Amino acid sequence: MSDQAARLRALARQLPPEANLFPSRVLAITSGKGGVGKTNVVAGLAMSLAQTGQRVTVLDADFGLANLDILLGLTPTHTLEHVLRGEKLLEEIVLEGPLGIRVIPASSGIQELTRLDTAAELRLVQGLQRVAEGQDWLLIDTAAGIHDSVIKLLLAAQEVILVTTPEPTSLVDAYAMVKVVHLRDPQKPLWVMVNNAQTQAEAEETLEQLQAAVQRFLGRELQVLGMVPADPSLLQSVREQRGVVERFPRSPSALAFRALADQLKKKVPLQKDGFASFWKQLRSGEP
Ligand SMILES: Nc1ncnc2c1ncn2[C@@H]1O[C@H](COP(=O)(O)OP(=O)(O)OP(=O)(O)O)[C@@H](O)[C@H]1O
Ligand SMILES: [Mg+2]
Repeated sequence: MSDQAARLRALARQLPPEANLFPSRVLAITSGKGGVGKTNVVAGLAMSLAQTGQRVTVLDADFGLANLDILLGLTPTHTLEHVLRGEKLLEEIVLEGPLGIRVIPASSGIQELTRLDTAAELRLVQGLQRVAEGQDWLLIDTAAGIHDSVIKLLLAAQEVILVTTPEPTSLVDAYAMVKVVHLRDPQKPLWVMVNNAQTQAEAEETLEQLQAAVQRFLGRELQVLGMVPADPSLLQSVREQRGVVERFPRSPSALAFRALADQLKKKVPLQKDGFASFWKQLRSGEP
């Protein structure tokens, strides 16, 4: 324990002074059930925010197969693993995506984040400081499900967006996810959004059901971000490996992403030193 404390004090001495820390907002996008559209939501929100002049970095922390880089037609040659091993600087692995969004392909490397040696820790935290410069948002695409590594990411993020579809299985798993996060950190701001809904009414019914369960069993309320409809244009843009917001800007899903992004811009406060706070929380493992 004292070893670890000494190590952290030594690390803190090597961090840049307060004045160099950059304010930002850090959001994790997650779901209970897999395949509900998280990665598309991350891409849609990132691109919509970028369209309104916001600078957005996306951390791809999903170990699944359908990753963000594939969705956006990017081909990473290096990931966070190379940064942690000291073979690359964090800024060297950042990919330039559509509309100027930046993608950090973390994938497998993220699993190692909770057991880093001091040198790797320093490389990561200093890299994040540099990459954070001038960025308004860090969006984190997580894997689905209640795994410890996912929960740690959620607890470290400033706010969490939970994606569900109207399917009962997705809804039940969404509730389970809310419960786990709430029990670990009752103060964590939690947003919910419904993706792939056939109608507005179906989305509203889904939200009501989830809110009712959360209110009854956990005594809290989720913040409602909104809905994204089931949209053939989104499917087509996935096939073309282009973000729907850029490919079909007037499509129903692109317009919906724009509305969600506007809502986030209004409601999520800037956090001093957002990227570094996220990392510190991730390291400490507790809220
Ligand atoms: N709004 C939508 N309209 C139509 N199809 C959609 C919509 N959202 C998602 N999909 C479909 O669902 C698929 C899965 O989406 P996505 O990869 O974003 O889910 P995910 O939650 O990130 O999955 P995983 O849990 O595997 O990471 C998409 O490729 C697309 O075919
Ligand atoms: Mg995904």
